[in-house]
Amino acid sequence: MSQSIETVLTEDRSFPPSDEFRGAARLADRSTYEQMWRRSIDDPEGFFGEVARELPWLEPFTSVLDWSGAPVARWFDGGKLNVSHVCLDQHVEAGRGGEVALIWEGEPGDERTFTYAELLAEVCRFANVLKARGVSKGDRVAIYMPMIPEAAMAMLACARIGAIHSVVFGGFSAQSLTDRIEDGGCTAVITADGGWRRGSILALKDAVDEAVQDQAQVHTVLCVRRTEQAVAWSEGRDVWLHEALDGVSDECAPEPMDAEDVLFLLYTSGSTGKPKGIVHTTGGYIVGAYLSTRYVFDLRPGDTYWCTADVGWITGHSYIVYGPLANGARMVMYEGAPNAPHEGRFWELCEKHRVSIFYTAPTAIRAFMKWGDAHVEKYDLSSLRLLGTVGEPINPAAWIWYREKVGGSRCPIVDTWWQTETGSIMLTPLPGMSATKPGSAMTPFFGVDAAILDEEGNEVGHGEGGLLAIRRPWPSMLRGIWGDEERYHDTYWSRWDGRYYMAGDGARRDADGNFWIMGRVDDVLNVSGHRLSTMEVESALVSHEGVVEAAVVARPDDLTGEAIVAFVIPTDEVADDGGLALGVLLKAHVAAEIGKLARPAEIRVSPRLPKTRSGKIMRRLLRAIAAGEEIRQDTTTLEDPTILDELRTGVKA
Ligand code: WT7
Repeated sequence: MSQSIETVLTEDRSFPPSDEFRGAARLADRSTYEQMWRRSIDDPEGFFGEVARELPWLEPFTSVLDWSGAPVARWFDGGKLNVSHVCLDQHVEAGRGGEVALIWEGEPGDERTFTYAELLAEVCRFANVLKARGVSKGDRVAIYMPMIPEAAMAMLACARIGAIHSVVFGGFSAQSLTDRIEDGGCTAVITADGGWRRGSILALKDAVDEAVQDQAQVHTVLCVRRTEQAVAWSEGRDVWLHEALDGVSDECAPEPMDAEDVLFLLYTSGSTGKPKGIVHTTGGYIVGAYLSTRYVFDLRPGDTYWCTADVGWITGHSYIVYGPLANGARMVMYEGAPNAPHEGRFWELCEKHRVSIFYTAPTAIRAFMKWGDAHVEKYDLSSLRLLGTVGEPINPAAWIWYREKVGGSRCPIVDTWWQTETGSIMLTPLPGMSATKPGSAMTPFFGVDAAILDEEGNEVGHGEGGLLAIRRPWPSMLRGIWGDEERYHDTYWSRWDGRYYMAGDGARRDADGNFWIMGRVDDVLNVSGHRLSTMEVESALVSHEGVVEAAVVARPDDLTGEAIVAFVIPTDEVADDGGLALGVLLKAHVAAEIGKLARPAEIRVSPRLPKTRSGKIMRRLLRAIAAGEEIRQDTTTLEDPTILDELRTGVKA
C-alpha cells in the first residue's frame, strides 16, 4: 500500500473519550471549551485574572496584561509571588502537608518519598545553603544534575531565594556546559558526583570540573553525593550538599518576587549561532504551567502522575516540577533509562506506583514498540487513565500502539504541541472533550490564538500547509533571549512585522479545524524530541583538524524521529578506506563536543559538496541523498552534477 493512501486512511480515525472518562472529567464538552477559549481570547484580562487569583499571591497584581512593549509582554504587573511558595507552602498551609508530593525511584531500585511538608523543609534547607554560600536574588545558578529529587529541590530552592536557575541537561558535554555557564554569567553550579544510566555512572562532577576551569566567576560548586565514586575536589569552591546541610534550619522565608522577575533561563538550539538562553519570568509562567497541567492532564485528587522527561528540558520544568506541584499533585520521578535493568522498567514502575497519568515522547514509544509487546503485557496497567506525548510529531502507528498496548484502548491520548519558548502547552486535545485523531495536536489551549500563514502572512485554507503562528501574547511566553534582545525580535517576530510569533514549525488544519504539526521549517533537527541546530553540529565537526567543511542534514529515522547525517570534506585526500576511520573519529568528536544526543548516525566523507554557482551548499539535495531518495529536484543550478553519484555511493561511517 502506498504511503499516501495509508495516511488518508489513518487520518479518518477518531477516538472520543469513554462515557466513564467524560463523566468525571474537568472539562467534558465542546461548548464549555469554546466558551472558555473565546473568553480567554476576547477578555484575556478577565479570564487570566481569575485563573491567577486561584494562586496565592504575596501582593495582588494591579494589571493583568501590558502589551505596550510588544513583543515583550508584561503579565500581572504589581503582583508579588514566589513560585516555591505556590508549589509547596500553599498546600502545607491548607492542611495538605501530609500528602505525598514526590515518589522517586533510582535506576538501581532505591526509593525515596516526600510529602509536601517534607519537600518544603528540604527546599528551605537547600535554599539556606545557597544563601550561606552567598547566592542571592538575581544571581544565575547552573544546575547539572541526574534525575534525583535534589534536581527538583535545587530548582525550587533557587526560586525560593530569587536566584535564576539555568538547568543544563546532564547528557550535554563539558563544553556545552561551559558555553551555557558563560553566556548566563552563572556564579554557582549545582551538580552531583554522578547519576546512574544503564548501570554505569554518568560522571557529572568531572564534567563540571572541566567546564568551570576558566570560569573564574563560579565561586561555588555544590555537589550532591549520589554514585559515591571518588571525585576531584577543589577546596573552597566545592561543597558537599550533605555536609553543608548539617544543622541548617528548615525554615526560609520565600523571597517576594515581582511577577516579571526572571524565574529561569533554559537554553535551546536555534538555526544559527550559539544556543539561545530562553528567558521565563515568574507570574505568567506559573499561571501557564498551573492551568495547562490542570486541564490537559485532567488532574484530579487521587491521581498519580508521571512525566518521563528529564528536568534538563522544558518539559521537566513545566510538567515535572512547576505545573504538577502548583496543583498539589502526587508525582513519580525516575532516574534511569527505560531499558535498565530491563525493557519493562517503565511499566513495572506504572504498576508498582499505580500511575494514572503518564506523559512521554514519541521516540520512547517507538522504542517500546521495537522492544516488543511482551514487556508491556507483563504488567498490570489498569491504573492508567490518561496518556500524553510531546516533543515531535507522533506517527499514527505509534499512536495506535500506545493507545492499545499501554492504554488498554481505554485511555485518551493528549498529543501536546509546545516549545521551550512557549513555556506551556499550546495545542492539545482536552481529554474529556476531544475525539482525538492519531497524529493531531487538535485544538488551541486557553489564551492561544493560533493561525497557519503563508510567507506573506495570509491565513491559508483548511487542508493547506503553512507556517504555524501565534497572534497574541499568552502568560507563559518567553520574555526574550538572555543578553540578546535583537535576536529575540529577529527569530520570532520579524517574519510578519511583529504581528505574529513565528514558531518555526510547519502545520496544517484539517476540515474540522484541528491542527497537524508537520515539523520544523528551519535548519533545526529534532532528534528524540530534542532540538539541535545543524549549525552547531557543523561547527563541532569543523573544529576537528581532519575536516575542512561540513554540512549536516536530517533523515527520517524509525526510532529517533530524525537522525543526523553529516557530509564532510576532509583536510587531506579521502583515505583508502573511503573515510571510514575519519568518520568513526568524528562521531566520537561530536559526542564529546556537544553530547551523545548530537552524534551523527552517519558520516559521508567526500572531496566535494554540492554547491550552487554562487557557492551555497544545496541542502535539499543532501537531504534527499541522506534519505536514499531519488533526486527529482532541479539540479541545473549545481556547479558540478557528477558529484551526486559520488555522494550516493560514498562510504558511510
Ligand atoms: C519543538 C520544540 C515542548 C517540549 C519538548 C520539546 C516539536 C514539540 C510536538 C508535538 C509535533 C512537536 C516542534 C517544536 N514538537 N511537541 N506534539 N507534535 N511536534 O521542546 O526542544 O523546545 O522543541 O518540538 O517542532 O517546535 P523544544
